[in-house]
Amino acid sequence: DRRVPYEVALLPGDGIGPAVVDAALPVFEAVADRHGFTLETTVFDWGSERYHSKGTMMPDDGLDQLEGYDAILLGAVGDPSVPDHVTLNGLLIPIRKGFEQYVCKRPATLFAGIESPIQNHTDDIDFVVYRENTEGEYSDIGGREHRGTDAELAVQSAVFTRTGTERIVRQAFEAATAREGKLTSVTKSNAQAHGMVFWDDIVNEVHEEFPEVEVERLLVDAASMDLIRRPEAFDVLVASNLFGDILTDIGAVVSGGMGLAPSGNINPTMEYPSMFEPVHGSAPDIVGQEIANPIATVRSGAMLFEHLGESSAAETLRTVVENHLADAAAPRTPDLGGAASTTDVTEALEERIE
Ligand code: NAI
Ligand code: MG
Repeated sequence: DRRVPYEVALLPGDGIGPAVVDAALPVFEAVADRHGFTLETTVFDWGSERYHSKGTMMPDDGLDQLEGYDAILLGAVGDPSVPDHVTLNGLLIPIRKGFEQYVCKRPATLFAGIESPIQNHTDDIDFVVYRENTEGEYSDIGGREHRGTDAELAVQSAVFTRTGTERIVRQAFEAATAREGKLTSVTKSNAQAHGMVFWDDIVNEVHEEFPEVEVERLLVDAASMDLIRRPEAFDVLVASNLFGDILTDIGAVVSGGMGLAPSGNINPTMEYPSMFEPVHGSAPDIVGQEIANPIATVRSGAMLFEHLGESSAAETLRTVVENHLADAAAPRTPDLGGAASTTDVTEALEERIE
């Protein structure tokens, strides 16, 4: 059953976040209109400005305010005036953890018309990374002592739970089953004999439920190399929070850059809202220039529609982006070699929808 109109919380955030969210919204509304549903959006002005005026990135009851929404669309957070660990831990991470968005799904697809820096593999880069999104190296366990002395120390622990590891691994196996039947698990089990070997054990256990899936294991250093050397060989990858974060930046760049890469922070049980966002950050180097590429956000919107069960709207959005990128005459922002503005691109996408 459609829960229309869909209530979508918008968190434009910092830097280029508001520009890409503002530009993408009319595209989403046009697609929704064409597919017979509507979006009801509410803007939450949380982020670094709020941090300066009120002392926190979001209100104490921020998660309560978001909980009733069908989905969340986030631009980016991060500002040179606030330490990055404050912005990340004050907004993004609490939402991912609090709403059990344990799958961070990041596709890397090279579209026709886009040049990859990996010259001999331009025909068939199409993989998706399932990144664990609630624990691992991003757990808040650790501390610092003896500050400012020779004995100063810092401990940062990585946490791997059975529940947390099993659920992301199972989601990745399911994705592999629905795609090409191949899963690459990325760890560093040679050096990290506790958490990462535990991860390997869980992969073995869950593999028994999916015997038809072929499993490849790579260490993260080799995987980083191979994503550049043979990106076409990958289909579904599963990795811990930190490794997944790094691998998906490689995925973004081999498939055309940060301006195109979408991301979903997904709560598969649907108990809480999921959050969709471009992989990129707030890009302070280009903020205010109206040249941020909105396509990463538009593609994140296609993932949002898919999650809401609006598959044909998602398909329209994906096709519109694909046709736009394949069209040499269509406007492109400078990151793709063009001279167009953010809204030149979204207006062209809107025209294609009509
Ligand atoms: P970034 O992704 O913001 O920028 C990296 C490079 O890519 C820059 O040269 C930027 O101009 C370019 N770029 C990014 N998005 C683009 C777009 N849509 N169109 C055209 N070019 C684009 O990463 P950076 O510079 O490491 O981080 C900047 C800030 O963003 C930091 O405060 C960081 O903590 C934050 N950040 C936030 C994330 C999030 O909200 N999920 C993710 C990554 C970084
Ligand atoms: Mg990242």
